[in-house]
Amino acid sequence: MTCNCIYGCSQFNNGWYFYLVNSVLFFVGIYHPVTSDQIKHNYVDKEEVVLWMNTVGPYHNRQETYKYFSLPFCVGNKKTISHYHETLGEALQGVELEFSGLDIKFKDEVMQTTYCEIELDKAKRDAFVYAIKNHYWYQMYIDDLPIWGIVGEADENGEDHYLWTYKKLEIGFNGNRIVDVNLTSEGKVRLIPNTKIAMSYSVKWKKSDVKFEDRFDKYLDPSFFQHRIHWFSIFNSFMMVIFLVGLVSMILMRTLRKDYARYSKEEEMDDMDRDLGDEYGWKQVHGDVFRPSSHPLIFSSLIGSGCQIFSVSFIVIIVAMVEDLYTERGSMLSTAIFVYAATSPVNGYFGGSLYAKQGGNLTMDKQMFIGAFMIPAMVCGTAFFINFIAIYYHASRAIPFGTMVAVCCICFFVILPLNLVGTILGRNLSGQPNFPCRVNAVPRPIPEKKWFMEPAVIVCLGGILPFGSIFIEMYFIFTSFWAYKIYYVYGFMMLVLVILCIVTVCVTIVCTYFLLNAEDYRWQWTSFLSAASTAVYVYMYSFYYYFFKTKMYGLFQTSFYFGYMAVFSTALGIMCGAVGYMGTSAFVRKIYTNVKID
Ligand SMILES: *[C@@H]1O[C@H](CO)[C@@H](O)[C@H](O)[C@H]1NC(C)=O
Repeated sequence: MTCNCIYGCSQFNNGWYFYLVNSVLFFVGIYHPVTSDQIKHNYVDKEEVVLWMNTVGPYHNRQETYKYFSLPFCVGNKKTISHYHETLGEALQGVELEFSGLDIKFKDEVMQTTYCEIELDKAKRDAFVYAIKNHYWYQMYIDDLPIWGIVGEADENGEDHYLWTYKKLEIGFNGNRIVDVNLTSEGKVRLIPNTKIAMSYSVKWKKSDVKFEDRFDKYLDPSFFQHRIHWFSIFNSFMMVIFLVGLVSMILMRTLRKDYARYSKEEEMDDMDRDLGDEYGWKQVHGDVFRPSSHPLIFSSLIGSGCQIFSVSFIVIIVAMVEDLYTERGSMLSTAIFVYAATSPVNGYFGGSLYAKQGGNLTMDKQMFIGAFMIPAMVCGTAFFINFIAIYYHASRAIPFGTMVAVCCICFFVILPLNLVGTILGRNLSGQPNFPCRVNAVPRPIPEKKWFMEPAVIVCLGGILPFGSIFIEMYFIFTSFWAYKIYYVYGFMMLVLVILCIVTVCVTIVCTYFLLNAEDYRWQWTSFLSAASTAVYVYMYSFYYYFFKTKMYGLFQTSFYFGYMAVFSTALGIMCGAVGYMGTSAFVRKIYTNVKID
């Protein structure tokens, strides 16, 4: 028997033990998240080809899925129904493979054959009618190739409902491999209570010239992911980058030139002149600018997490570019979890060193715990909440108990120790507060300023430009997540990420410069928040997207959409905030190093 999974299929009925072993192997490095070369896709003639039934759900929301057999479909006469989750990523994404019971053998033609009959009572009819009214589609897999089919159809006035009963499969092979599958639904049967409905299938094998490596190409949609639009948006953002970089370098040059001029003049000036010198603006706050931020605990945890999210995004996009991750179910998510756990030291390093620099209490490791669990807690908390609703609706999105155990194990046994390593390194290597200026004992009062120099206003305005540089790409990313499009243009995503970071850094530097010039030294939180406000705009955009680009409805879909969008936006915001803060703190260091303060 050919198993499409690595460890054998049927014996792991509901194995949290399996996930444990799986996730431990995963991190020991024996188990590579991309398993394509471990699964053999070669068949000999007449070898069994398994048709897996996956999920069924409304066409308008790709993320709301139920088990295929939650609809009263019948099963073929091969009675070995197995059910397995191959990877953690699949389990989290609600993949629910169940054997269809159809008898398919490699290169073996099957004429139209009835494989089972549905005895349609009132309840079953209602279930089908509900599914048809909501445009349910089902998904199946043959040899890892996804196949979609529609459940049924209503007539124009919406009174009679019909079920497609005949699955016509056409499978293309190239040598000993399967390279193409087409499904045609035929045999429309009206749903009348207390009748029998025969379900049938046929299999036709065709020689195909498609190369095995290219077999996923037909699922990609180049006319949707038009390269022209991507280039246009990148060109736009690029112009913005040039403008912003120009602005920032102008500010830097101007201040530096003035300082040099002042140094050279100072030699010739007597004490009297020096006292009347042009001490104004940001130079005035030199005694406060390196004062620890308020709430250093939360602040340093946010910065640490943001650096981690940045490195995860960077690495995952590179892996996706190199490995074509879309060809494997759930592998994107598995890779992301793996990379997230593996980059925990980054979090510890930046969070821990910042906390130490800000004079935090180092005897207690509160910061480390908060930093390590901030993101996992946020994601799991949202997932937990949505899970409740999913269980209520019996969606296959409901995350099984075993998976939750596995995720907790990863948090405590992988993320936490790695974070500890990073924290110790960070505190010892760069935890000394070696600021260029001394911090005065007494904080300087913050002078009154114009309304548009208030931190709150700067924070609100700060996110507009970074959002402007990504919102076109956001449309593609949202659409591939919520609709049936496979995202594959990761090269563009990488460019957009780089541009986003540059724009964010430039914008926060400009914001901080104006803030300091208004003699307000509370730049740490302001720079973080003004970059992070990008996420607020992204979240607002997701409302627009929900109402105008999707056709979702109902409590489950709505909470699912807005819950996960909130997680996505928050993660994006923390990442932008951290990137902005890192850039700005380098800038602040630089300008105060070059100024001579008596
Ligand atoms: C599937 O359909 C496409 C488009 O109609 C066709 O080009 C391809 O040859 C079909 N493949 C098989 C195996 O029938």
